[in-house]
Amino acid sequence: MEQSMEHYAERVRSLAPTEEPERQYYFIDVMKSVLAEKENRIGRKLTMNVVTFGCQMNAKDSETLSGILSAIGYEETDNEEADLVLYNTCTVRENANTRVYGRIGYLGNLKKKNPEKRIILCGCMMQEPQAVEKIRKSYRFVDVIFGTHNIFKLAELLFEREVQGALVIDVWDKATGIVEDLPRRNKYGFKAGINIMYGCNNFCSYCIVPYVRGRERSRSAADIVAEARHLADNGVREVMLLGQNVNSYGKNMTDGVSFAQLLHMVSEVEGIRRIRFMTPHPKDLSDELIDEIAVNPKVCKHVHLPLQSGSSRVLRAMNRHYTKERYLELVDKIKERIPGVAVTTDIIVGFPGETEEDFLETIDVVRKAGFMAAYTFLYSKRTGTPAASMEGQVSDEVAGERFKRLLSNVGEVSAREAERFSGRTLEVLCEEYKPGEGLMTGRLDNNLLVHFPAEEALWGELVTVRLEECKGFYYLGTLCSTVV
Ligand code: 5AD
Ligand code: SF4
Repeated sequence: MEQSMEHYAERVRSLAPTEEPERQYYFIDVMKSVLAEKENRIGRKLTMNVVTFGCQMNAKDSETLSGILSAIGYEETDNEEADLVLYNTCTVRENANTRVYGRIGYLGNLKKKNPEKRIILCGCMMQEPQAVEKIRKSYRFVDVIFGTHNIFKLAELLFEREVQGALVIDVWDKATGIVEDLPRRNKYGFKAGINIMYGCNNFCSYCIVPYVRGRERSRSAADIVAEARHLADNGVREVMLLGQNVNSYGKNMTDGVSFAQLLHMVSEVEGIRRIRFMTPHPKDLSDELIDEIAVNPKVCKHVHLPLQSGSSRVLRAMNRHYTKERYLELVDKIKERIPGVAVTTDIIVGFPGETEEDFLETIDVVRKAGFMAAYTFLYSKRTGTPAASMEGQVSDEVAGERFKRLLSNVGEVSAREAERFSGRTLEVLCEEYKPGEGLMTGRLDNNLLVHFPAEEALWGELVTVRLEECKGFYYLGTLCSTVV
């Protein structure tokens, strides 16, 4: 580093507050001036593009990351020619990683034409030392790498990149505390995610999440309710409470609020009309929670309950802590106590040692449980997880063939489930408008989608729609009335 730059960097660092989030607001201000100076020099506004891979947790983190970049002064665009491209990566399955490598190569080519371009990589994949090593060796044009535990530091890391003029890597192996009150940029306006907890303690034997997202930590109920209130004041009507295993909410806290009680507290926030949550674990879904969903009109009648396998033997090898029978009993109880509920699931095909008989047990559960939708995945071997070294890895051909059979069963069952609502008039939230076709897409309480002719002005509103024609996993409908 040149001497004057070294002095400047040292002075900026020495004046930085030590507390969070104050420290990050300070670096946001510093980066604001750095950006303004650059914009003056090149004579145009600088742009950013945040690309999210993976789950709702990442989508939520990306709102914070975009919020920080907007506060610095970057203008948001939707393409990767932007002056700053940030990839928030996923590593839950191998193909997620392969896709990211391909796309980083493409970003490198774009950077040759725009030397001011900054390439930032963060998220789950960056928690894996092999991935960081590969990027450091083979993709030398990357500017900043950080992981899942320090996303709040984005502004400070961008500052370090500017003053050091070289790749900055800052990956933590565990979280310190939870940093509250960072800027956020809400993608939709009328709906938003709220993290209620981070990490996972379950160690399902196939899953990398506990290694890359760390141990369970819950946010305080007061902070969660305050966030819901703030969102409602800004026009949000639907919130989704997010955690890897929401049933564990509050376990490491002293205020003794259970997840069911938290749902209730959030439902008391004025302006919040709908509450969703992701993801409960079948092993410890409580009666208290089922009852809260049943009686609370604001809680959506949709339970996403990952099955993973229908074979009790495979479930044991997966370390899931329930059997086929217990899972089916639980689904029966949910359907009995919550009329009209939709149960959806995740299923993995080709787990090590899965036999044809095991697979048929999975199909049996699909048929008996009557899922409204199922997300199906081919087992992907994740280095470092117990399943990676298990005997009897299933060949691609066998897994692929089972996967097709599973899909056709799921398609049939979910179409039958969806069909049950035909002819009814139900409340939907208008989520997307296609101007060319004059069609609005709304989401029912039970998560089904319905397309219907409507004005764009209804976007973000709750309306009632008559479900005319079931097209498998969505409906065509007609607008009945707007809801006040
Ligand atoms: N291979 C395939 N699918 C996986 N999932 C998690 N880990 C793996 C893996 N190694 C699936 C599970 C989980 C969903 C988010 O991703 O079904 O519920
Ligand atoms: Fe992974 Fe299991 Fe935790 Fe879900 S509950 S994140 S599948 S370890």
